[in-house]
This record gives sequence, structure tokens and C-alpha cells, in this order.
Amino acid sequence: MLTLKNISKSYNKGSIKAVDNLDLVINSGEIFGFLGPNGAGKTTTIKMIVGLLKPDEGSIVLDGVDVWRDSLKAKSIISYVPDNPEIYDRLKGIEYLNFIADMYGVSKEERKTKIYYYSKLFNIEDVLGDIISSYSHGMKQKLVLTSALLNNPSLFILDEPMVGLDPKSSFNLKEIMRKLCDEGKTVFFSTHVLEVAEKLCDRIAIINKGKIIAHGTMEELREHAKERTSLENIFLELTEDE
Ligand SMILES: Nc1ncnc2c1ncn2[C@@H]1O[C@H](COP(=O)(O)OP(=O)(O)OP(=O)(O)O)[C@@H](O)[C@H]1O
Ligand SMILES: [Mg+2]
Repeated sequence: MLTLKNISKSYNKGSIKAVDNLDLVINSGEIFGFLGPNGAGKTTTIKMIVGLLKPDEGSIVLDGVDVWRDSLKAKSIISYVPDNPEIYDRLKGIEYLNFIADMYGVSKEERKTKIYYYSKLFNIEDVLGDIISSYSHGMKQKLVLTSALLNNPSLFILDEPMVGLDPKSSFNLKEIMRKLCDEGKTVFFSTHVLEVAEKLCDRIAIINKGKIIAHGTMEELREHAKERTSLENIFLELTEDE
């Protein structure tokens, strides 16, 4: 279970309040979708959860581990796929995967099986011997996804993971997310693709201007909105400027 309690984050010495007193509980075994307009605070929230940005206030606890007080332990049980696959360009794909596997202490046997399985699934097995700078955006994204699946995380957190993925890889990723949840893991991801969120997520939160404006199951979100139809209608209605 992931608990965010009253977290806030400002940039530029407090002039930009990116995340404003946010409370959220994400249960183990659920896929949680994080939606919101550009600049709403999704990436900022995600970076605080994974330990890249320190919250100004509040606490983040994953399975009893305080993400900021016990950061190394927390990092060992989190897998993070950032919105931009900026990785070590001068390494070969396989070198990058081995480096990540070393960092997480994944055994030789286990990494071999997983690298084989996921690189084949994402269709990058033939380029693992190539240098990463020669990869396309989607190929880099798939390498990062493969690396994030090498250890056995409690929390799999992804920032707009479908961007740049071809339809088959996107389908495979959704299947993987579902499988992780079935194993009792927590999956938290941000997206602008409302159809994906509607179909895939057990629960959804919508953030706007740093605050959660709605959260719950699709059914519960429908109750918030006047137009009880698609997530797109609900999203547009709730995020409309007054
Ligand atoms: N490094 C930074 N310095 C200053 N302001 C920032 C920084 N990063 C983000 N912001 C501001 O914080 C707010 C939230 O940004 P954030 O990146 O969290 O939004 P987002 O919901 O991820 O948006 P998008 O959908 O475009 O990815 C925005 O107003 C943004 O301009
Ligand atoms: Mg973002």
C-alpha cells in the first residue's frame, strides 16, 4: 500500500505551487491511474514518490517504509519508468540491463530469464548488443521498461508509459501491469490516454493545479459528474476552468 499524506511541493522559491496538500491511498493489488491536464502536478508527485524530489511537506509511505526517511530501502522496492527515457547513451542495451540488475542485486540466473523474456516480448532482443544512442525513442522506452521489470518491485510506477510505444508493445505493457497487480503489487501510472485509464484502472485520481479534484472507481467518478458518460466527459467537465 502506498500512502501520500498532505504532500506539497513548490518550485522557484515558492512562487509555483506544483503540488498542494495532496492526500492519496493506493492499495496493493490495484492499478491506479493518475490523470490531469498538462502542468497539473503529476510528474512532480511521481518524482516525490520515487525519491527524486523532496516534498516541502508531508509524508510518503510504501508498505510501511517511509520513502524519504528510509530512502535506500524504499528504492529497492520501487521500479520507476520516467516520462523521458534519458539513459546512458554510450552503453550497449545489454550493458545497461546488467548494470541495473547489479544495482538491484538480481541473480545471474534470474536476470538471464527476465532479459530474454521481456526483450523478446518488446521486440528489442536483436538490438541489445547495439549502443543505446542508436536506439529510437520507443526502443529506449522499451529498454527502460525491461530494466524496470528485472527486480521484483512492490510498486511499479510509470509516468506516461504508453507515449511512443507501438500498439503491440502498449498492449503487452498493459498485460504486464495487470499481471503485476494480480500478484499483489501496486501499479501507479500517469496518462493522458483516457480510454486506457478507463479500461485498465481499478481506481483513478484526477489532479488539477496541484490538487486532487476527484478520485475513485469509474463508477464513483461518474457520480461526481453531471454527464454520467465516458471518462473523457467527466475529465473535461471536472477540469474546466471556472
Ligand atoms: N523544474 C521545475 N522548475 C520550475 N517549475 C516546474 C519544474 N517542474 C515543473 N514545474 C511546474 O510545476 C507544475 C507541475 O508540473 P508537472 O511537470 O508536475 O506537471 P504534469 O502534470 O506532469 O504535466 P504534463 O502532463 O505536461 O507532463 C507546472 O506549473 C510546471 O510548470
Ligand atoms: Mg508530466
